Amino acid sequence: MSDFKIAPSILSADFARLGEEVENVLKAGADIVHFDVMDNHYVPNLTIGPMVCKALRNHGITAPIDVHLMVKPVDRMIADFIAAGATYITFHPEASEHIDRSLQMIRDGGCKSGLVFNPATPLHYLDYVMDKVDMILLMSVNPGFGGQSFIPGTLDKLRDVRKLIDESGQDIRLEVDGGVGVANIAEIAAAGADTFVAGSAIFNTDNYEETIAAMRVELAK
Ligand code: DX5
Ligand code: ZN
Repeated sequence: MSDFKIAPSILSADFARLGEEVENVLKAGADIVHFDVMDNHYVPNLTIGPMVCKALRNHGITAPIDVHLMVKPVDRMIADFIAAGATYITFHPEASEHIDRSLQMIRDGGCKSGLVFNPATPLHYLDYVMDKVDMILLMSVNPGFGGQSFIPGTLDKLRDVRKLIDESGQDIRLEVDGGVGVANIAEIAAAGADTFVAGSAIFNTDNYEETIAAMRVELAK
């Protein structure tokens, strides 16, 4: 597969220089901007919301923005992120009372929809909505913070989801988020992922371009 996408998580960027950081990481070869939204309720941390997404658009960022909602409830934020210029909007199914409706809201708003699975969240939430998702995001850490270690059991889960996607015959991206870096990206790709979120592995290095290039070298192996 050659359609690999690298999605730096701006959670690890310097928020005091966010516009510049996003520009730099895109210039360095990133494909997608991963935008982590935390509410200090669904997850024990508080980050950024639709105003910041809108500000990035107003700053001239045209790359896809992949909004990962770690909030409960989800519907109000879906509406606000559609208006703020999101490209993808994904949410955790256990944080929505009406999963089908929330997915539909995202597509009706012209965005791409997706569900996110924590390491221990079962995949059965997908059973009746495979035709309503454009992306499936597997968390390889428990959500809330950057810089955690990749949970190895995610590899088996990735293989399971890859099979589900292939059997569905649909065009669904398989994204993985948490503890992804140059050292393990090839193994994660081999398990079936095609979209790679990396926060600390990119933003904590001095040269984003070199780091992203090193990831692509691994992906080409
Ligand atoms: C965690 C977030 C991730 C996080 C990844 O809750 O969803 O996107 O920023 O950070 P790293 O790549 O440092 O594990
Ligand atoms: Zn994320």
